[in-house]
Amino acid sequence: MNYKLLGRSGLKVSELCLGTMGFGTESGWGADRETSFTIMDTFANAGGNFLDTANIYKLGTSEKIIGEYISNHDRDYFVLATKYTLKDSLTNPNASGNNRKNMMRSVEDSLKRLKTDFIDLLYLHIWDDITPIDEVLRGMDDLIRQGKVNYAAISDTPAWVVAKGNTLAELMGWSQFVALQVEYSLLARTPERELIPMAKHFGMTVTPWAPLGGGALTGKYLRGEHGRIKPESNRLNDRSTNITKAVVSIADELGVSASHVALKWTMQQGFSCIPIVGATKVSQLEDNLKTIDVTLNDEQLQKLNKASAIELGFPGDFFKEEAVKTNTFGGFYDKVEKRI
Ligand SMILES: NC(=O)c1ccc[n+]([C@@H]2O[C@H](COP(=O)([O-])OP(=O)(O)OC[C@H]3O[C@@H](n4cnc5c(N)ncnc54)[C@H](OP(=O)(O)O)[C@@H]3O)[C@@H](O)[C@H]2O)c1
Repeated sequence: MNYKLLGRSGLKVSELCLGTMGFGTESGWGADRETSFTIMDTFANAGGNFLDTANIYKLGTSEKIIGEYISNHDRDYFVLATKYTLKDSLTNPNASGNNRKNMMRSVEDSLKRLKTDFIDLLYLHIWDDITPIDEVLRGMDDLIRQGKVNYAAISDTPAWVVAKGNTLAELMGWSQFVALQVEYSLLARTPERELIPMAKHFGMTVTPWAPLGGGALTGKYLRGEHGRIKPESNRLNDRSTNITKAVVSIADELGVSASHVALKWTMQQGFSCIPIVGATKVSQLEDNLKTIDVTLNDEQLQKLNKASAIELGFPGDFFKEEAVKTNTFGGFYDKVEKRI
């Protein structure tokens, strides 16, 4: 296992993050407590230290299982990420949302479930489109000053909101968001339009969720095996199936699992990217951990890019038009260094 720096911070996290949304058997799927413990053992034994959870996962069971585990292991070894925003109550209007009151309440509840007195990385989970972003950053900065949180991060939020937040935080001397969690995979590339360029600009690490498309990109549904994805899901439609077939064909060429190809594609995009990979069985994690030994060559990357291509739309595709390049660069487009 190699370690990456999380965003502009000095924090060292394993190049794969373990997603724990499936810790607990609520809603009829997931790993039970014992299996979850073994999954964490397997991850830690392979050098993994980066765990991703949220207050809402399995209605708090995911955090409780992690809390029980880390309180019997070396808590300080793990870089523990959790999230606040999503509802802990249907009768209290402030027990959900991005507001400061919910942030403080949710963090206190998470600390109890996690049996720890600090969270390493606190994400805003999903943007509510009403709370001022300065309220969020000031709240996270206060939690950091109180020693309850080490780093701030954000998930599922428009790029302009994150950009405004990080710019304000820089001006105010508050902690900035170091990581951006978004759905990103060969099946879901639209973050390439605005979110990923924004993350690169601010030196944030992108932490893709559902990097295996919830399991679709493992190819198991093509083989007639079952999992939690429903047949009507767009992760199993014609487009997704064609992309998965391209993944499987490269995996066959390399003699590896399709999951290795799908995960490694996210890790070879040329920007800081740490996929959050879920597993409900120990064997799935054991398989996914082998990803770190795989390298995709340029031809394989191009084949995958072609099969999964999306339109950037305006302004991304407009900037690529020859006339626009000529007008903007006066004929020097190919001679001028570009920012990566
Ligand atoms: N910020 C957000 O809004 C957000 C949203 C969703 C998830 N997340 C985070 O991202 C993590 C990953 O999300 P995810 O679980 O949807 O994504 P994923 O990694 O794309 O899919 C994981 C699922 O794929 C299947 N799987 C994994 N490895 C496999 C293998 N080697 N062979 C066959 N099947 C395999 C399992 O499904 P089966 O159980 O069906 O076998 C597993 O639960 C979550 O745990 C959570 O921490 C965040």
